[in-house]
This record gives sequence, structure tokens and C-alpha cells, in this order.
Amino acid sequence: MNVLVAVATKHGSTYEIAEEIVQELKAEGYAVELRSADDIADVTGYDAVILGSAVYAGNWLPEAKQFIERNHRKLAELPVWVFSSGPLGSHNPQPHDDPARLAAPLGEVLVRDHKVFVGKLNVTDLGLAERLIVLAVRAPEGDFRDWDEIHMWAQKIARELQSVPAL
Ligand SMILES: Cc1cc2nc3c(=O)[nH]c(=O)nc-3n(C[C@H](O)[C@H](O)[C@H](O)COP(=O)(O)O)c2cc1C
Repeated sequence: MNVLVAVATKHGSTYEIAEEIVQELKAEGYAVELRSADDIADVTGYDAVILGSAVYAGNWLPEAKQFIERNHRKLAELPVWVFSSGPLGSHNPQPHDDPARLAAPLGEVLVRDHKVFVGKLNVTDLGLAERLIVLAVRAPEGDFRDWDEIHMWAQKIARELQSVPAL
């Protein structure tokens, strides 16, 4: 069973979420590869795919969308889970983006689950344009990632992978 975790990140916090998912799946005995979404030309050879992207301006990053476009035929034949990381804040994180729209268009790819994780904002990481945006929308600064929730989601995938046949 070869599992691919592909991730699109701008400032690294989504990559760290993907690393936690990889660790959890490895602990359950799966062979897991973590790659940047723009680094994967082809998903041939993988039995399952987990794809994650940071959310900017209500959308997945282009490299995550392009990963789906490049691979949509093969992804349609594989079990696929996706996650987004974006909303910020400890109480009622904002914004409430519709997960179905973030990753669109998925075409015939049947996603088993789309989890939205709360993200991280460190203003000193940002360029001037991004600083102005987060200032304008009064985005809260901090690391709001919920590691327990991330571990639980990875464990759920580990259980579901038990019923996935290896290619
Ligand atoms: C300029 C800017 C725009 C953002 N727009 C959104 C958004 O539309 N929806 C959302 O949920 N999060 C938004 N965020 C929050 C990021 O998705 C969050 O900080 C995420 O954890 C960043 O992931 P990364 O470190 O992997 O790039 C935005 C952040 C910045 C800096």
C-alpha cells in the first residue's frame, strides 16, 4: 500500500499539517510519501492520495488545482481525501468557506472526505500586499492549528485505508 500525501503551501504551515498526517499514517504501518503538489507529474504507482492546500482569497493554491487537473483520470480510480487549511481564530474561526468550492473543480474525482483545518498566520512571514489584506480584513494572528483534530483525521484515514486494495 503506497500512500501519497501531496501538499500546496505558501508559508509552510499546511506542509507541517501534512507532515503530521504522514507521521500518523507511518505509525499505523503504511508506506507514505510526502511531496509538494507541483512536484508530482503523475500519481501512477500510488494506491491512495491525500491532497491538501492552504486557502488564499477563498481558493486553493493553483498548484493543488493543477495537480487535480493533471491527474484527474487516475485520481477518479483511487481513494482520495482532501484537506484545506485556512480559517483563522480560536473561537469561531473565519472565514466560513464552503469546502465544496475551495477545491473545485474536482470533476469525476470522488473525494471520500474534505476536512477544513484551522490555520496559522504570522504577519512577519508576509509580503507587503498580504499584510495589507490581513490588516484590511482584521485577520487574527497566531497559530490556531488543532493538532488533536489533525491526528484524529489521519487515524480515520488509516482505518479507512484498511479496506483499500493495493494495486
Ligand atoms: C493574504 C491572505 C489571504 C488569506 N485568505 C484566506 C481565505 O480566503 N480563506 C481562508 O480560510 N484563509 C485565508 N487565509 C489564511 C491562510 O489560509 C492561513 O494562514 C493558512 O494557514 C496559510 O497556510 P500556509 O502557511 O501553508 O501558506 C489567508 C491568509 C493570507 C495571508
